[in-house]
Amino acid sequence: MQIHYLSEKNSILNHFLAEIREVNIHKDAMRFRRNIERIGEIMAYELSKELAFEEIEVQTPLGIKKTTQITDSIVLCSILRAGLSMHLGFLNYFDQAENGFISAYRYHPNNDNYFEIKVEYQAIADINDKCVLLIDPMLATGQSIVAVYQRLVERGTPKEIHIAVTIAAPEGISYLEKHLPENYHLWIGALDEKLNEHSYIVPGLGDAGDLAYGIK
Ligand code: URA
Repeated sequence: MQIHYLSEKNSILNHFLAEIREVNIHKDAMRFRRNIERIGEIMAYELSKELAFEEIEVQTPLGIKKTTQITDSIVLCSILRAGLSMHLGFLNYFDQAENGFISAYRYHPNNDNYFEIKVEYQAIADINDKCVLLIDPMLATGQSIVAVYQRLVERGTPKEIHIAVTIAAPEGISYLEKHLPENYHLWIGALDEKLNEHSYIVPGLGDAGDLAYGIK
């Protein structure tokens, strides 16, 4: 696994990260969604530097300019429902990408802190030989991402897998290290302290799906 930490003390990414955490802004679901989308855009830009490019020539009104363009075919795949706003941010930049959606939720069979991940709905483009970007705002325990990753690779063999998360807990990173093969990239907006007893990220931001969709 190659980990890319994107948060820098003085960057616009840090500004958006601060806003999505701030409890006094949480009542504004539209702003929360838009900030997650903007984080997706910044991450798409950073991640684009790792993709394959070819040299091309473009015709301008005044001449020819040698430049480069991305050659990878991209599939954006996000985990429903929290991944949707971040997905949109990636799609704003990778506007020709194919797309996929997989649902994953925590199921508590005993009504206590123990949970299993249920993966249900899935609609995914062909991923063979393509660059798959797996998008989920919160890397908490890592179980959802591993469950979704396993569903994805049942469908084919991508050229590369990039996992993009806004906020990660150290426990989630260790879980991915243990349960996924080595050859993928992990993009992290911010690394937080730990998980609490309910497996939520601390300090984190709360429940990203609820905040995005106005559930109190
Ligand atoms: N999912 C969230 O939305 N928040 C967390 O802290 C953990 C998982």
